Amino acid sequence: MRYLIILLCFLYQCFGEGTVPDQVHLSFTGDMTEMAVVWNTFAEASQDVYYKKIGIGASSTAKGSSEAWVYGGITRYRHKATMTGLDYSSEYEYTIASRTFSFKTLSNNPQSYKVCVFGDLGYWHGNSTESIIKHGLAGDFDFIVHLGDIAYDLHTNNGQVGDSYLNVFEPLISKMPYMVIAGNHEDDYQNFTNYQKRFSVPDNGHNDNQFYSFDLGPVHWVGVSTENYGYYYSYGMDPVMTQYDWLKRDLTTANSNRAATPWIFTFQHRPFYCSNVNSAECQSFENRLVRTGWLDMPGLEPLFLQNSVDFGFWGHEHSYERFYPVADRTYWNDPNAYVNPKAPVYLISGSAGCHTPDAWFSDQPWPWSAARNNDYGWSIVTIANRTHVRVEQISIDKNEQTVDDFWVIKDEGYTHSGEMRRASSGTKFPAQKCHFKDVACQRSLKEINEEL
Ligand SMILES: [Fe+2]
Repeated sequence: MRYLIILLCFLYQCFGEGTVPDQVHLSFTGDMTEMAVVWNTFAEASQDVYYKKIGIGASSTAKGSSEAWVYGGITRYRHKATMTGLDYSSEYEYTIASRTFSFKTLSNNPQSYKVCVFGDLGYWHGNSTESIIKHGLAGDFDFIVHLGDIAYDLHTNNGQVGDSYLNVFEPLISKMPYMVIAGNHEDDYQNFTNYQKRFSVPDNGHNDNQFYSFDLGPVHWVGVSTENYGYYYSYGMDPVMTQYDWLKRDLTTANSNRAATPWIFTFQHRPFYCSNVNSAECQSFENRLVRTGWLDMPGLEPLFLQNSVDFGFWGHEHSYERFYPVADRTYWNDPNAYVNPKAPVYLISGSAGCHTPDAWFSDQPWPWSAARNNDYGWSIVTIANRTHVRVEQISIDKNEQTVDDFWVIKDEGYTHSGEMRRASSGTKFPAQKCHFKDVACQRSLKEINEEL
């Protein structure tokens, strides 16, 4: 402890109180010859990033920009810089003020890589934190996708929980991109200020971190906000429609670019489907809005089907659940369902570590639910090549055993839209009862009964 105090005193004397960068983390910009870095200080500081290939060449400078923001009476300074002109398959070091970090770039248009995917991870209940950091530092994946609900909450205790969470993860996320999407816990009653100020994402969406996309090798990755829907009564319809119009254009373009990028993966916080019964979330109005829409508010599932989205990753439910290919409640559960799937394949990985107990499953889960697990854990998604993708679910409760492991395989050039139009239908789920106040459920039920 004494040495720590001496070190802190040294840092403060040398660099001024509050100007030592912390919470340093990387993110993709969409241009794979670049890397964005975001960090925080508690005092005004003009800081640039000096970076160079390790062992080779002169140092380059990435000009940092800074912006003061206030939450809970604490003034923080968000800093961002973009390192450009990076070579592929190279190791770089970068220095901000007194601190030096390093990272590796991926190969040019990598056809194979691994991604750590999880949602719903807290600072105080970070059951998977140690495991994720250990495996990330060991090189078991190349970047991270966090499916929302970050730190529980970024804004708790005047934002100091967010500070602590990002500092705990700094050894890992200063070395590899940390790609995020907002969950319901990111609303801080100031229009997601903590979420928007603490992260950086590719700016091809709306520049508020709520939605964006990027291509990496054979996958077009799309981050989608479900919180535009969940908080429409606070922030209005405009965010929903702005995202919807952008997403329609983005998916249409991606779907016409399959020769170069055969897979389309989406990631978002709230699920379209789930089988949990610990709360009413799987039937709640806000969650159903995301899939089906309401009145003039369009839902997302039709866009996914029209543009043959291959995969969707979700959080929000504090459990793991894998689904058979499913399209508007029609599903295919034959033994080869994951070979040339006739609809998107969805997955909930929201069990990384949260503030609530297990998310119990119904004794009679939906028939399109293929596998369920209530252990704490996280997922590794392996992009093997243009035709093969693997998902493994790692259990923290079972000493990092793999508790689910499956492949999705599709032929070169295959997309499911044409197949769905031709397909005799899969199996439709049986009629159910709705709560008398759940108008969206009743509307869906009416549609289903008319189809049956
Ligand atoms: Fe959530």
